[in-house]
Amino acid sequence: MSDNLHQLRCFGCGARIKGAEARPDFRCALCGDLFEVEYPGWGERRGNDRPNPGALKWLWRERRSSSEALDRSGVWRFRELLPILDSFGSALTLYEGNTPLYHLTRAAKRLGIDQLFAKHQGMNPTGSFKDTGMTAAISVARERGFEWVACASTGNTSASMAAYAARAGLRSLVLIPDGKIAWGKLSQAMDYGAVTCQLKADFDGCLRLLTQIVNEAPIYLLNSVNPYRLEGQKTPAFEIAEAFDWIVPDHLIVPGGNLGNSSALGKGFRELHELGLVARMPRISVIQAAGANPLVRCLAENDGTELEPVEAHTRATAIRIGNPASWRKAARAIQETGGWCLDVTEAEIAMAKAELGAEGLGCEPASAVTLAGLKKLRARGAVSGGETVVLVLTGHTLKDADYTIDFHRGTLLNAEETEGVEAEIEALRRNARVMDATPAAVLATLKDKVG
Ligand code: F0G
Repeated sequence: MSDNLHQLRCFGCGARIKGAEARPDFRCALCGDLFEVEYPGWGERRGNDRPNPGALKWLWRERRSSSEALDRSGVWRFRELLPILDSFGSALTLYEGNTPLYHLTRAAKRLGIDQLFAKHQGMNPTGSFKDTGMTAAISVARERGFEWVACASTGNTSASMAAYAARAGLRSLVLIPDGKIAWGKLSQAMDYGAVTCQLKADFDGCLRLLTQIVNEAPIYLLNSVNPYRLEGQKTPAFEIAEAFDWIVPDHLIVPGGNLGNSSALGKGFRELHELGLVARMPRISVIQAAGANPLVRCLAENDGTELEPVEAHTRATAIRIGNPASWRKAARAIQETGGWCLDVTEAEIAMAKAELGAEGLGCEPASAVTLAGLKKLRARGAVSGGETVVLVLTGHTLKDADYTIDFHRGTLLNAEETEGVEAEIEALRRNARVMDATPAAVLATLKDKVG
């Protein structure tokens, strides 16, 4: 019996096709929009394929004490809600998911929000949330017999893809913007054996080029235009709902780059709601960097009907994207849940990152936009003190150590960027001190700090 219950539905025109019929660039042949995975059996009230909510909650909890490989994955533990493979035996896992949910006590106190949490997706095998999607899409690539996989990336997708491809025995091709990605990420792609090409182009240019390449050669595209990536990336929604005993938090805040992640989390919560596992969806807000904010503009200027690409600039290189592929899907997640979409400055990102770090929760600059965005929403009165809020931290702090060191040394931001917040930044900086190797010198530093 096949485990496969899915079909693909075009997000734009609603056309339905079988999974294997998708074009190499995953665009609809009729209207050019992206596909979403759909499970027709779920709509039938009494059909055999419609999952039973009570039984699923019990089964998923049981699997947490199982030693079976797929049960130990925080993605495949929920496999009843991602029947995308002919056989779950084809699934390839690095034991992704099952990431920690931390209570952010100090930030909560400062903001006057009791229930503030961080879902740390940087605690995945390659240090970012991409692993939850990669396990799903690489498994499809392997089952369909591809030898080569490829992605354009700002760094994390390539690190993740290279690792999963290596484990699956597949070859991988990475296109990255020359000089605009963090070294930690580039080093991973090299280490995991990818063919890595640094192009004189930005992320959007890399993705455009790769789209042409996959149309000419039998290479499986693993960017988030690939709908199977989003199936894996929806599972943190299940983990979050489970962690709150299936009473979803009021508000989920997600960084926005190519906008696959916010789309996927929206789909995850939507499916839980439609299947009766939770009573409602959380509000989903997306935060972008001010220099890379095409979705913010599009929602403000034309209510999400048309996206004008921008030339992207931000030191949060993971989200340095001006023409996001999944913007329509992300706009739907925001609009249907009553969420917000706003942008934050370079100084706001750097300060939020340092505040999270000071709570013992390091993350990438791109992840810190969530806390920076929440501070803004709270200041505007859009979030009340009684709400339960979850920030999605997408990447590990060691991905971009240069950024962190530059911040603490005081060389990250320029005078224009820090204007008005110099004192706040100064209070957050913890630069290393050079001193004589004597007890007196070290102890004097402590006195200095305490005083
Ligand atoms: N945070 C991190 C750490 C990321 O690496 C990315 C995207 C995002 C947030 C934004 O997520 O694109 O789904 O809206 N990184 C991609 C990459 C583009 O190539 O690694 P998104």
